[in-house]
Amino acid sequence: MAVETAADETVVVRPPRVPRPRRYLVCEPRYFDVRYAINPWMREDVPVDTALARRQWAALVQAYRDHGHTVETVEPVPGLPDMVFAANAALVVGGRVFGSRFLAPERRPESAAYEAWFRANGFDVRAPESVCEGEGDLVPVGGYVLAGTGFRTTRETHREVQEFLGVPTIGLQLVDPYFYHLDTALFALDDTNIAYYPEAFSPGSQEVLRRLFPEAVTATRDDAMAFGLNSVSDGCHVFVAPQAEGLVAQLSRHGYVPVPVDLSEFHKAGGGIKCCTQEVRP
Ligand code: ARG
Repeated sequence: MAVETAADETVVVRPPRVPRPRRYLVCEPRYFDVRYAINPWMREDVPVDTALARRQWAALVQAYRDHGHTVETVEPVPGLPDMVFAANAALVVGGRVFGSRFLAPERRPESAAYEAWFRANGFDVRAPESVCEGEGDLVPVGGYVLAGTGFRTTRETHREVQEFLGVPTIGLQLVDPYFYHLDTALFALDDTNIAYYPEAFSPGSQEVLRRLFPEAVTATRDDAMAFGLNSVSDGCHVFVAPQAEGLVAQLSRHGYVPVPVDLSEFHKAGGGIKCCTQEVRP
């Protein structure tokens, strides 16, 4: 049992956090750059330090391996600077792969490149009929798929996902263009709980999240703007942007182990740790 002191000084006793080894698919940022602007973070006049980006990305992969996770790579394609954001390629639950269909024409060719990886690795891929940006907007947790909409992935896709996976899919309305993908405003801490930034959601969706996850960790706008909610958790270790200082402290208080990984160059494209990571769930 772990004993800790909550923010209000009450003593909390709970079982220790247990990490589960994961299988992650990533794409080396060989051609990563900001060459078009399809979200408010992207500015063609702010240069990306591509050498630094490659080092930051390598450190993320190393951190995953150091914590016992399997990391596989898909071959990057020249001319697809956002292909590094592997999360957008698919949602994989129970070995079923629901593919992607990007809103921006610039990103559409990424779907086929990832689909080829999945097929080569023994998976069938269901192609969405409507705009779908994979785990960017579709987050499995607690027997549900939380599904964002408002900027990219459509309600039609939420219905398709529910039919395809047979998992209740909860639509959530995103309202702030800085948090245009669900995974910029919310992540799964473990199989039963989440961390999120409430103001990124409509009032009704905030109420849904409070109802489903009364114990959730809620973050400030500063933490969200630092890509703190674009984190990856294995149930114990949380790979998190060090700039999200308030959130990092809260995670420790809740018994998680923050593993800081700085992906500042990717923030210039509107992405962070989770965006660079596709989880292949068996
Ligand atoms: N530049 C990319 C886009 O706007 C960033 C994608 C970030 N990915 C994510 N899962 N939030 O599409």
